[in-house]
Amino acid sequence: MYAAFRSIGSYIPENILTNHDLEKMVDTSDEWIVKRTGIKERRIANKDEVTSDLGYKAALQAIERSDISVDEIDMVVCATLSPDYLTMPSTAAMISQKLGIKNVMAFDISAACTGFVYLMSLAKSFVESGAKKNILIVGAEKISSIIDYEDRSTCILFGDGAGAAIIGQTEDKNEAIIDVLASANGNFGELLITPGGGSKNPIREDNVKDKLQYMKMAGNEVFKVAVKTLTNDVIEILAKNKIDASEVDMFIPHQANYRIVEAVRSKLNFPIEKTALTVAKYGNTSSASIPMAMNDMYESGRVKHGDLMLLDAFGGGFTWGSALVRFAGKNFTK
Ligand code: COA
Repeated sequence: MYAAFRSIGSYIPENILTNHDLEKMVDTSDEWIVKRTGIKERRIANKDEVTSDLGYKAALQAIERSDISVDEIDMVVCATLSPDYLTMPSTAAMISQKLGIKNVMAFDISAACTGFVYLMSLAKSFVESGAKKNILIVGAEKISSIIDYEDRSTCILFGDGAGAAIIGQTEDKNEAIIDVLASANGNFGELLITPGGGSKNPIREDNVKDKLQYMKMAGNEVFKVAVKTLTNDVIEILAKNKIDASEVDMFIPHQANYRIVEAVRSKLNFPIEKTALTVAKYGNTSSASIPMAMNDMYESGRVKHGDLMLLDAFGGGFTWGSALVRFAGKNFTK
């Protein structure tokens, strides 16, 4: 039994926060942001929208585009660094509830921007072992809820959104998810961190006053490790599976910064037309970034049934991973 990538869907919040809007909030400029990151705008969820609402809407689209009904989903997993609640209930449980799914395993994973690749690894193993038949995986983020909009080193980079996919069973090897590699190294934990809210710095007045509930990042150091790691990920997974880069139909790297994507793409010689690039309009949406980018490629007809996709992710932890995936869903129709 193999695991097949059956469908993709996404949800993009309506509100747009442009670089010009940010100019009015912090000491920055559209020119600086575009030059250093390639980001022009990002989406921000409404005040009354929570992460599971975004995930739910992406999931509805993924389910609608698959051959299965909600009742056939036997596991729901969500990757997020901005869950509805810090400890419980899980965002996956909330997504299940909104979809009307009852009595199936639902839980969250914490792997920051690599979350979607971790989900692929998990779903592949559960399906291949025969334990589950149709798994809903969701990367959903309301990152605006953990951003300090007075901190120009982070607030210019991140945005909200969600992406979802159905991973199902197949006996056809040509439809299979080929391989997923995923790793972590906690030695880099402090470079990209939300220090408050957990057991180390619980929600207390002094911690909140120190703004520990917000994400902190040593951008420059993260940048260097990200480029190196994202490049090595691709080299490793292609070599392991004896696949040449020219066989890849769509390279879908994590959308953190145009300069990071471009450095990796040019080092590996992927043509621009075979590289997903959505960071300009969505910014970095963490675990949602890869499925949102994939969905854009799908809806523009650049990912079709049978195409070989190469996913490449990097994030806080540090975590990183890559996946070689055949798109086994239906071609997009309006
Ligand atoms: N607007 C204007 N100036 C800014 C700024 C902003 N938003 N943020 C920082 N600066 C200033 C700095 O203070 C510094 O000024 P100085 O030279 O007078 O000291 C200068 O710009 C350069 O800062 P630096 O941090 O070296 O810039 P950079 O080229 O590394 O770009 C990032 C900063 C954050 C865009 C970049 O490091 C990055 O994208 N890192 C990776 C982040 C990431 O992807 N994280 C998630 C990984 S999943």
